[in-house]
Amino acid sequence: MITKQSVVKTLISNKYAPKTQGSGKAFTNIALIKYWGKRCNELHLPVTSSLSITLPLSTMTSIVRSDKDRLFLNGVACAETDAFFVRTRAFFDLFRPNSAFFFEMHTTNEIPTAAGLASSASGYAALVFALNDLFCWNLPFQELSILARLGSGSACRSVYNGFVQWQRGVRATGEDSFAIKLPFVWDALRVGILLISDRKKHIDSRQGMQRTVETSALWKAWPALVEDHLQKMHEALIAKNFTQFGEIAEQNALAMHATALAAREPVLYWLPESVQAMYAVWEARRKGIEVYFTMDAGPNLKLLYLEQEAERIREVFPSIQEYTPVLA
Ligand code: PMV
Repeated sequence: MITKQSVVKTLISNKYAPKTQGSGKAFTNIALIKYWGKRCNELHLPVTSSLSITLPLSTMTSIVRSDKDRLFLNGVACAETDAFFVRTRAFFDLFRPNSAFFFEMHTTNEIPTAAGLASSASGYAALVFALNDLFCWNLPFQELSILARLGSGSACRSVYNGFVQWQRGVRATGEDSFAIKLPFVWDALRVGILLISDRKKHIDSRQGMQRTVETSALWKAWPALVEDHLQKMHEALIAKNFTQFGEIAEQNALAMHATALAAREPVLYWLPESVQAMYAVWEARRKGIEVYFTMDAGPNLKLLYLEQEAERIREVFPSIQEYTPVLA
């Protein structure tokens, strides 16, 4: 079997010339066409391609060599038993030049827990940038994207800003599964987060998608649907057709959640308040306000609208946290 470790070996072929310190910064992204389902769990290889947009919330990470692994999250030392520590240490294991090499990592997350957004995408992308800096690899973005994917799938999209597509690839090694930057700009686009709950979800995306692939009767329809949605999303981006853009993003998110709901046991990320918010979005649309939503593996809604609607949106959803996507 091809392992993460063998992929890392192929890409960096023992090139380790550590400087004193390495640092990196990356923004989080949200998918408009979702990644949901792996063809390889070890390498985080997806069944379908996906497409995302960058939000102006970043993770900044710096690393130095140390006598043991130490992690500081927003200035606070992280316990070795913490899930974040355990995951990061396993990722570090892929990159130690020798068994006596440890890392001290300081990471600052701009993503407030209260934003209800996962920080693993920007987190692993920033860490890979920091490793690339520390070890002077000078790897091309395509390869950094592959390394970030080994941390978390959606992280491979966070090596670029703007509209980004993760090409699923077909090879077993994953060498053709990385993100590319799409040549679209849309200055008027806004993303508004409607926070429903910032509590930890009962089932994370990794388990949720695996259970969906293994047990959901609806999952069979998903890959072809994504192909169709990707094509229509590209058309919408080329034509700056916001209606098509919003409709496809919303349909894609709902279809993803439908596949999960048909899993055994069902995977349902919504809370009653999420459903209420969906009704409110649909009601706003009936009143002529052009707003759509997308949702990830959690209860929060991310509203999609254009700048010209921002005021009316804020009247209907006073608690909204509005972001202008990072395009460049
Ligand atoms: O990268 P992961 O393993 O956290 O999975 C992300 C899954 C979704 O957020 C639901 C969809 C996506 O494309 O980001």
